[in-house]
Amino acid sequence: MGVLDGKVALITGGSRGIGKAIARAYAREGAKVCICARRESGLRTAAAEIRAQGGEISWCKADITKVRDVRRLLKEARARYGTLHVLVNNASILGPREPIVSYPLAAWEEVVKVNLTALFIVTKEALKIMMPQREGSIINLSSGVGRIARERWGAYACSKFGVEGFTQVLADEVKEWNIRVNAVNPGGTRTEMRARAYPEEDPMTLPLPDAITGVFVYLASADSIGTTGKSFDARDWLRKSN
Ligand SMILES: NC(=O)c1ccc[n+]([C@@H]2O[C@H](COP(=O)([O-])OP(=O)(O)OC[C@H]3O[C@@H](n4cnc5c(N)ncnc54)[C@H](OP(=O)(O)O)[C@@H]3O)[C@@H](O)[C@H]2O)c1
Repeated sequence: MGVLDGKVALITGGSRGIGKAIARAYAREGAKVCICARRESGLRTAAAEIRAQGGEISWCKADITKVRDVRRLLKEARARYGTLHVLVNNASILGPREPIVSYPLAAWEEVVKVNLTALFIVTKEALKIMMPQREGSIINLSSGVGRIARERWGAYACSKFGVEGFTQVLADEVKEWNIRVNAVNPGGTRTEMRARAYPEEDPMTLPLPDAITGVFVYLASADSIGTTGKSFDARDWLRKSN
């Protein structure tokens, strides 16, 4: 028996990194999991790995900035598993590490579109399933620079401040439907995005994505019922649970 038995979860950006680790952890706890990303190859590999470990998982190639893709994604997930209990808004892009004065407009628009506007698009579609059933947990991936920003984090930092704000607005709006909405800052984690952000860093000094999934399992499980509008740090959670 897993703590997520009977739950259906959708994880955006589940083909690699933190999203894939969350998918693996959820499947291990008994959830039926759907993952999406833009590229099929990573999705196929992630799903095959998780199935080989006994997990129930499906994948859908979808760009979350496109409303049509997102509608298809939710439709396919619902057709396969009947409903949706947990949404993890994980997919994001880094964008250039440029100061604002030279930050290219096109890159700014793209980062805000993927990290904030697309999160809004996916969430709206998920709420159409969660509100009538009066149950759901939405988990938004934030960042340390989405709370205290630093130089050269540009649109990424600003989009993550937006994710923190979005979490609070939505938590307040949907609490009477028993839908909880929380944000999680994973902290520096050994992934492709982190390697691009800090090319000089030794990745071996960072935890693997699989080490930081505890808070995501908690927020998806019945243990977190009543917890909403909060911001968590996966690293704090790791320290507390050790
Ligand atoms: N790693 C860290 O140290 C760290 C620290 C703080 C916060 N975070 C946050 O944690 C989350 C996961 O980060 P990560 O390091 O695991 O990133 P990552 O390794 O770059 O993985 C990003 C995932 O998102 C997908 N994706 C990107 N754009 C997409 C789009 N438009 N539509 C659908 N899928 C899309 C990617 O697949 P495709 O490219 O195939 O689409 C991939 O599966 C992000 O929200 C990030 O901001 C990470």
